[in-house]
Amino acid sequence: MRYLILLGMTVCTLHTACAQQKINDLHPYDYTIEKDIKVLHGAVVSAHPLASRVGAMILQQGGNAVDAAIATQLALAVVYPGAGNIGGGGFLVGHLKNGRNIAIDYRETAPAKAYRDMYLDSAGNPVTQLSLDGPLAAGIPGTVAGLFASMKYAKLPFVKLIDPAIFLAEKGFVITAADAEGLNTYKGDFEKLNTTKTVFVKNEPWKAGDTLVQKELAHTLTLIRNKGTAGFYQGETAANMVAEMNRGKGIISLQDLKNYKARERNAVAFNYKGYTIVTMPLPSSGGICLQQLMGMVENYPLSQWGFQSPQSIQLMVEAERRAYADRAQFLGDPDFVKVPMAKLTDKKYLAARMQDFTPGKAGSSDHTKAGVFPESEETTHLSIIDDEGNAIAVTTTLNGHFGSRTVVAKSGFLLNNEMDDFSVKPGVPNMYGLVGTEANSIAPHKRMLSSMTPTLVLQQNQVLYSLGTPGGSTIITSVFQTLINALEFGMSPSDAINKPKFHHQWLPDQVAVEPDFPDSTIQSLEGMGYKVVKRGYIGRTEIIKRAPESRYLEASGDKRGDDSAAGY
Ligand code: DON
Repeated sequence: MRYLILLGMTVCTLHTACAQQKINDLHPYDYTIEKDIKVLHGAVVSAHPLASRVGAMILQQGGNAVDAAIATQLALAVVYPGAGNIGGGGFLVGHLKNGRNIAIDYRETAPAKAYRDMYLDSAGNPVTQLSLDGPLAAGIPGTVAGLFASMKYAKLPFVKLIDPAIFLAEKGFVITAADAEGLNTYKGDFEKLNTTKTVFVKNEPWKAGDTLVQKELAHTLTLIRNKGTAGFYQGETAANMVAEMNRGKGIISLQDLKNYKARERNAVAFNYKGYTIVTMPLPSSGGICLQQLMGMVENYPLSQWGFQSPQSIQLMVEAERRAYADRAQFLGDPDFVKVPMAKLTDKKYLAARMQDFTPGKAGSSDHTKAGVFPESEETTHLSIIDDEGNAIAVTTTLNGHFGSRTVVAKSGFLLNNEMDDFSVKPGVPNMYGLVGTEANSIAPHKRMLSSMTPTLVLQQNQVLYSLGTPGGSTIITSVFQTLINALEFGMSPSDAINKPKFHHQWLPDQVAVEPDFPDSTIQSLEGMGYKVVKRGYIGRTEIIKRAPESRYLEASGDKRGDDSAAGY
């Protein structure tokens, strides 16, 4: 697919320090989506071809995978505003060439004025709109702090990493059909949830080939370039955020912004049949649930049963039911709740959890409240492997598509609606149908539980895969299936991410399947007593494999979107 090019292409920027030479490799008006590439040195896969290109450019300029991850995230904040962000949060998981694993948590936090029942009406019923729409839905953004926390592991100066994003915001880029559709779909929300006009709204509908220019965002990025975290969490940008809060009943204060800190955590690392899986710890549920899922299926002959055989799917579904039940009961911000980590991931416990699983017969989720799966889910994942032996997996989010749909006036970036990831009331499903308990209730300064699961697979301490996906509650099961596809069924990276997916999350008690899921398999599952529902596509998984035999990098972007790989 090729996107053309309405503006003449003198690719230089107003920004003097922008090394034109280097930026010139970037063609924002003429670019191609590359689904599968095979390269020797370094590779980047992300949700947008321009962002992947930025990351690959940084690798070619001598940056390592961390440099590329920072630059790619910043580019995504410009070219993929539905989920790329500076007004949201995320997680970075890395394996460094010195053998160390790292995990950086830049999840949003609840503002100091947040309280447990803040999204309930006077009768104690949840008012969903409050945790989803507008400034009150926003947690304190973490991304910018996360990028600077990541700089500790980077090689290049920050200015080099942010300049391509500034360039793309300042000069604009040509949008794809999917970009246009996203902007058109949310036009009404942008108008309703903003008191000033945003660049995302124009009179006639957006179409592929239009140019999106974001001058205010370019200005904010320039402040960050020049002042570091203070360019975002203090001064003009912070004042603009608080002004937005004041216009829209939000509660984030100047103090909240100034106090925000990204956190380094110990990565979750566990063994699966000789592979080491490295992934994100709490406050993401992703790592611990993935460890549970892999642990629960490890003793069964999956590779013998075969890809998407009724036995394999049933086993995986029953494991998913149990992991998500534990998630709802036990998991929350570890700085606030005591989570029985060792017990939840104990091999004996996991084996025992599967003892009441009856082959050929559906289990039951012994609960009645059911959530609803939304069709549109936007977060975004990027995977990077460099030439030096470093690998990075980052998943970052505004939560819903375009987050709270509120743009900070004069600063040009979208605020997240991550507060909805808290359990606004025990047992009441959030926008992904997930239920929670006290462990994930709202409290000042607490981080809302996430499902984001940026993941690496190591073999003999060398990186074999970097992968991850958006998809709300389906993130964990998508990563799980991709790993099983690759490690048990021996699939290529492209097949491992693109084959039809299924999902069970305890509640609602149903197996959700993608549109292209085979009817015969659905019938087998129904024959066992499962309720099977067809839904939209699940996730957009990005993957890179460093094939040890050839040393080639195979990088694949998901077929389900504009996801694109770049490398050299
Ligand atoms: O952190 C989480 O689990 C959610 N806020 C992720 C949302 C998401 O993946 C939406 N996108 N596709």
